[in-house]
Amino acid sequence: EKAGYDHFMLKEIFEQPKAIRDTLAGRIKDGVVDLAQDISFTEEDLKGIDKIHFVACGTAYHAGLMGKSVVEKLVRIPVEVDVASEYRYRDPIITPSTLVVVVSQSGETADTLAALREAKKAGAKVLGITNVVGSSVSREADQVLMTWAGPEIAVASTKAYTSQLIAIYLFSLHLARVRGSLDAAELKAYTTALLNLPEQAQTILEEADAIRPFAEGIAKHDNLFFIGRGLDYAVVMEGSLKLKEISYIHSEAYAAGELKHGTLALIEDDIPVIALATQKAVFEKMVSNIIEVKARGAHVLGIGLQGDTELGKSVDETLTIPETLPLLTPVLAVIPLQLLSYYASVARGLNVDKPRNLAKSVTVE
Ligand code: F6R
Repeated sequence: EKAGYDHFMLKEIFEQPKAIRDTLAGRIKDGVVDLAQDISFTEEDLKGIDKIHFVACGTAYHAGLMGKSVVEKLVRIPVEVDVASEYRYRDPIITPSTLVVVVSQSGETADTLAALREAKKAGAKVLGITNVVGSSVSREADQVLMTWAGPEIAVASTKAYTSQLIAIYLFSLHLARVRGSLDAAELKAYTTALLNLPEQAQTILEEADAIRPFAEGIAKHDNLFFIGRGLDYAVVMEGSLKLKEISYIHSEAYAAGELKHGTLALIEDDIPVIALATQKAVFEKMVSNIIEVKARGAHVLGIGLQGDTELGKSVDETLTIPETLPLLTPVLAVIPLQLLSYYASVARGLNVDKPRNLAKSVTVE
């Protein structure tokens, strides 16, 4: 059932073009996103939303972090993102005009479900984004937007994450159309770029083997850093979680500009730093941050955009991903990071699909 792959995780990484395609299918018509088949919030409901809370755990929380940037940019509604186990206990300000978006692959995570129930009790509208038809989230949320990633068996989430990103783009573009925050040309540009993502993801996967030597280098270390700015910061948080989870290598994900406020003290000779630099708006700043860690002896793997000739000048090694619209880049940028964790785990001889101490679905609080 691994279809010739050594592990479910690798199979699921390679299923991402299909997962993305299936999650987009039928939801884009003539250059606009139409989710009328999926969710029945009225236009009035959607126009009345004055803030959005994303609530989730782990990898799904990282999808929510990306969602904050995307919704705020495209729809101009303020967004907060919480891990579910914190949200419940911090007395968040929830009103009937709050939309709470609960993101959960399994739809059964105990803390996420409890947060969903709290939000409903407080009178918020609740949108569930889940991968499992008939799951508790799908039954209890007011409206549901399914991700169509197919069953995810490996404990480490991969295709569910990229599908969650897609669902969040779709919902944001649906909202942007209804609320008029984007014009037709902008909507068209986003939908066209979304539809190109499966093919672009495929080209990264075709070069997957090229990532193996980097991963084997990293596998010899016990500590490393991921850095990024803007959306790249949200993506490196996910990359760092994945690496910890399946390779047991300690890593921290840092907003690159924040390093010099303390953590730079940990950068010493030969420490690997994975620098994600796909966001043109902050590219120059990112390069300065790379130079800061290089000057302290770090060995930097830069991940940038194809065609960029600058990044290579300030890093030790470079990987590239195809270019898309900046807000959509996380879907592609996470793939080399997933592969890096996968090959590092394999290099260390670990149980990739069933890492120690972890369960696929966390049904305890
Ligand atoms: C990490 C991972 C976990 C889950 C988290 C939430 O690879 O898989 O962090 O993302 O336990 O699970 P769901 O999405 O099922 O609520």
